[in-house]
Amino acid sequence: MTTIQPAEQHVTAANGPAAAPAVAFLGTGRMGGPMAANLARGGLDVRVWNRTAARAAAIAADGAAVAASPSEAVSGARVVITMLADGPATEQAATGPDGFLAAAKGAIWVQMGTIGIEWTDRLAGVAAAHGVTFVDAPVSGSEGPARAGQLTILASGPDEARDVLAPVFQVLGRATAWLGEAGNGTRAKLVVNTWLADLTETTAETLSFARRLGLDPAGIVDLLADNPLGAPYAVQKARVMLSGDFSPAFALKHALKDAELAVGAARDAGANLALTSALLPRWRDTAASGHADDDLSAVYLTA
Ligand SMILES: NC(=O)c1ccc[n+]([C@@H]2O[C@H](COP(=O)([O-])OP(=O)(O)OC[C@H]3O[C@@H](n4cnc5c(N)ncnc54)[C@H](OP(=O)(O)O)[C@@H]3O)[C@@H](O)[C@H]2O)c1
Repeated sequence: MTTIQPAEQHVTAANGPAAAPAVAFLGTGRMGGPMAANLARGGLDVRVWNRTAARAAAIAADGAAVAASPSEAVSGARVVITMLADGPATEQAATGPDGFLAAAKGAIWVQMGTIGIEWTDRLAGVAAAHGVTFVDAPVSGSEGPARAGQLTILASGPDEARDVLAPVFQVLGRATAWLGEAGNGTRAKLVVNTWLADLTETTAETLSFARRLGLDPAGIVDLLADNPLGAPYAVQKARVMLSGDFSPAFALKHALKDAELAVGAARDAGANLALTSALLPRWRDTAASGHADDDLSAVYLTA
């Protein structure tokens, strides 16, 4: 059964740290950096690790301790959060050289990156073999919501973990949906991101279509913005597309990864994602032509 908990209060130095667990945060990229900084600023005991050390060091100013390896980061931590690019990077941090799992017995591992169903199942098994509780909790929302502590957390895993994680999730998100057994959070994330990918593609194609008909695409966006058809996300992405500023909030390479994970999961489940499957070749070409690290709105360039 799904339970949605709004984050009604944030952990502060006045009411939180005594109850809040020590957190090891692995992966301080575009999403993980502001998430870890928010936890440290919220008064939690936070240790950060990142492959590129400078990105973790930047969070020391927010009160986080910087660790030299995943295993060093988890020493004494009750909760371990991974927010890494994909399944292979997450496995590397868990069981590679200086991996954290061997040092994390009894801890709760909250896996928050988008890694797909197969990797989630595989890593849940590895966690169990090490006596570590596994919570699958990817997020909806990009860099802005991560900075603002306004993510939606799609959590799944054992009920016993919920109370321990409440003060952590209250800082990171505006709401947490508990979706049942581990793996369901990732399933929900793939479904939600399919919506996002299709909406982005529709937006790019709509603007391109308008332009080719000799219309002003900005005028079409204004028209849609004032209409129930104009989903706020699509209108915002349309304006980014027309601005030509593709500074990443959600990198195309990650959006492509997610669309590929969704199409693969659909195939395994006997579902037909005709729209998402159809956008893949052009998104791959766009990424390969120098836009992999740009925002996914760069797909407008080839629409
Ligand atoms: N951006 C969004 O809007 C958004 C929203 C929801 C979910 N997500 C998901 O959240 C995850 C992180 O996204 P992001 O936007 O924060 O990406 P990002 O800025 O590219 O950060 C990726 C992180 O993974 C690390 N990493 C990559 N490959 C690695 C490897 N082989 N070994 C160790 N570390 C490695 C990076 O370390 P370095 O700093 O050393 O490169 C960095 O810490 C992804 O799964 C993404 O799909 C993103």
